[in-house]
Amino acid sequence: MRASSRARSSTAPSWRNEGLEGAWYPLSRDASVRIAIVGTGYVGLVTGACFADLGHEIACVDVDPEKVDKLRAGQIPFHEPGLDEVVARGLESGRLRFTTSLADVMDGAQFAFICVQTPPANDGSADLSRVEQVAADIAQYIQSYVVIVNKSTVPVGSRDFVEQIIRRRLPSNVEFDVASNPEFLREGTAVFDFMHPDRIVVGTASERAAGLLTELYRPLGAPLIVTDPATAEMIKYASNTFLATKISFINAIANICDAVGADVKEVALGMGYDARIGFEFLKPGPGFGGSCLPKDSRALIRVALDNGYDFHLLKGVLDVNDEQHRVIVRKVERLLDGVQGKTIAVWGLAFKPNTDDTRDSPAFAVVRLLMDAGARIRGYDPVVGEGSFVSAGIDRAAGPIEAAEGAHVVLVLTEWNEFRWVDFPKLHAAMATPVIVDARNLLDPHSLRQMGFTYEGVGR
Ligand SMILES: NC(=O)c1ccc[n+]([C@@H]2O[C@H](COP(=O)([O-])OP(=O)(O)OC[C@H]3O[C@@H](n4cnc5c(N)ncnc54)[C@H](O)[C@@H]3O)[C@@H](O)[C@H]2O)c1
Repeated sequence: MRASSRARSSTAPSWRNEGLEGAWYPLSRDASVRIAIVGTGYVGLVTGACFADLGHEIACVDVDPEKVDKLRAGQIPFHEPGLDEVVARGLESGRLRFTTSLADVMDGAQFAFICVQTPPANDGSADLSRVEQVAADIAQYIQSYVVIVNKSTVPVGSRDFVEQIIRRRLPSNVEFDVASNPEFLREGTAVFDFMHPDRIVVGTASERAAGLLTELYRPLGAPLIVTDPATAEMIKYASNTFLATKISFINAIANICDAVGADVKEVALGMGYDARIGFEFLKPGPGFGGSCLPKDSRALIRVALDNGYDFHLLKGVLDVNDEQHRVIVRKVERLLDGVQGKTIAVWGLAFKPNTDDTRDSPAFAVVRLLMDAGARIRGYDPVVGEGSFVSAGIDRAAGPIEAAEGAHVVLVLTEWNEFRWVDFPKLHAAMATPVIVDARNLLDPHSLRQMGFTYEGVGR
């Protein structure tokens, strides 16, 4: 790997690689560039709005006209803290605009970022059909040199795949480069993460594309790794699946803690002080979810298999994750002596707090198992929309106490802060039986038990 990093405060070019040593590509005379963003989901919208905030001219395209209309009116189609302000600033300055026309965004663009979804196909592999479509469409509109940047999470070889598609369809001999630039932002803190990345990874063999991307990202002052495309694509999968591994590992440890009477919170603390381990992603719960960790784990297992390696470890990570849904359900069943005919108040449906994203949320997996066992579910989530409740068959309540009215148990499935400050004496009075299963270890067991609740967390 040709890689280097620099101190965050440095203004020196951020990579020094053999062959690319010292190369510098000024972006434009006034350092503002035109950037096309394809796809205005969590990644695309944050990328576009933040680049506009950094002074560039951004045109975002999406195939969803409703989404585009909303964005033009300054409405954010999903919950992401702080994003509305950045989008509003971009719209007001005229540096950020939205359209459904790819031709329009490609007009004069120096970079085109592909930020479309790559959901799992039936065999677990990443479905690249949208990336393929975008590449084919982009090819028709390239009029002068442009760097096509793939930010979607894609398997190894996808950068080459995109380049081949474009080359096949390019009407003229115009120059272009394709680079891989995986995104590491987290929903819930996406704006902060984009503006303060731990690292930026660029995968390209082109000195010109590497130089331009280095200049584009320079204001963020983050360590930059310029490497070959396959390595860049692997860095993304390896990072996400390592995080998934940490979560399944601590869930397994939590289950053992439950059996032997140890406290997993303190175990994680004791582990985390070891600098080789760290504190992050050592919180047990109902299993990992969201639009990335489960699908990227399945995709990497597939990539490995297609290349002759059976990734047993990662399969185990997914098995532990599935089993964790049942661990939570068994806790509820044991405490209620079966759930048939019981009312369960579910607090939280989002896969984590500060987002309304319910894609692959463990909350739904747990709810489904409880419903199959005959329970009635009433739920509350501060930001998840009505549609998610309806499609899961969950009665939606206006607040956490309303959800628990006459319920036999409160089941905490997302660690929203507002659940810490519930009026617990009022909750106690509202419930048929005062039982709390805290699948996120969010609440204080001691004070709840003193108030007369039966409390059970995970591994404590
Ligand atoms: N969500 C995250 O936290 C996150 C973090 C890092 C990386 N990623 C990766 O980034 C990619 C995008 O993820 P996301 O969560 O932003 O997806 P998303 O589903 O929120 O958004 C994708 C957007 O692309 C649009 N789109 C689809 N086809 C299009 C086309 N042909 N032309 C224009 N627009 C099109 C969709 O309408 C949608 O608005 C995925 O590969 C994902 O794995 C996601």
